[in-house]
Amino acid sequence: MNQSIKEYIVSINSAIEQEDFGDKPQELYEPIRYIMSLGGKRMRPLLSLLSYQLYKDNIKEVIPASIAVEIFHNFTLMHDDIMDNAPLRRGQQTVHEKWNSPVAILSGDVMLVKAYQQLIANSPTEKLTEILEKFNRCAIEVCEGQQIDMNFEEQEQVQEADYIEMIRLKTAVLLGFSLEFGGILAMDNEADQALLYQMGVNAGIGFQLMDDLLDVYADQDKFGKQVGGDIIANKKTYLLIKANELAQGENSIKLHDWLKAQDFDNEEKVNAVKSIYDELHIKTLTEAKMNEYFEKAFTNLEDLDAPSEKKNIIKDFFNYLINREQ
Ligand code: IPE
Ligand code: IPE
Ligand code: MG
Ligand code: MG
Ligand code: MG
Repeated sequence: MNQSIKEYIVSINSAIEQEDFGDKPQELYEPIRYIMSLGGKRMRPLLSLLSYQLYKDNIKEVIPASIAVEIFHNFTLMHDDIMDNAPLRRGQQTVHEKWNSPVAILSGDVMLVKAYQQLIANSPTEKLTEILEKFNRCAIEVCEGQQIDMNFEEQEQVQEADYIEMIRLKTAVLLGFSLEFGGILAMDNEADQALLYQMGVNAGIGFQLMDDLLDVYADQDKFGKQVGGDIIANKKTYLLIKANELAQGENSIKLHDWLKAQDFDNEEKVNAVKSIYDELHIKTLTEAKMNEYFEKAFTNLEDLDAPSEKKNIIKDFFNYLINREQ
């Protein structure tokens, strides 16, 4: 990865290490320290720094503000893992498994508040109202996306366009906000701020398509999450939607039966659905869709009014996302 990106991640991690998340009762605060210390890509604060550096050099000054989006993200993960019944996160036990669901709910609630505290304490007063309005909208949309994602588990057929809208909400708008946030902190060009948001949404849709792909095809150790979790839960991922569209005859019956199955062996279901995906070349189709959205993001990047050597750092990061294994 690009040297500046590596340095930004080191700075983000050290700022997170120095955060005082709270003390007593320890059942409330320990899970926060736990999930925040498990690492992860730190992509959202990184995106804020990456958009900021397009226009300004004093990156260190916005690191505290950028941490707000990482705290918010980790709150969504803590609750998402309850919703998705996920055992593993970043190679370790999820909070609701290590403690229990009530603990994960309440610690997550505190994290949401802490994200706001971090944002408010580190945003310039004259831009705070605008930042809060945009963050509020984003946070509500993430919840809308999460509910639609759960609704789709119970729904037999989901259209591609509805799936794209669902991932725009649950995942992409936060990448959009993170980039826009860095832009708002750096400058006042509203056209570029809007473009940064759009770029984040496009990259975010591409990013979630890759996440869906990795959920089936990743190496468990590198991925750090339960491979096959989406298949087990009947998540209407792009992969499943395409398979439903393309499967014929025997494959169509098999797929339908697995989606209806009540008592099954997880591994058997994952292997069976995966082999249907393989036969239908679903991996290639998903990669093509992902590339389509990253292409849009690259076009947005080109349109920004910033130095090309600075834009290249973002280009490098998007290329890393496209080729990632976790
Ligand atoms: C996981 O996000 C949730 C999704 C939107 C797919 P990341 O893949 O960014 O998770 P970490 O923070 O790197 O662990
Ligand atoms: C989650 O999508 C998006 C949010 C956390 C808002 P996923 O459910 O696919 O994320 P992972 O795969 O558990 O990280
Ligand atoms: Mg989920
Ligand atoms: Mg999940
Ligand atoms: Mg996923």
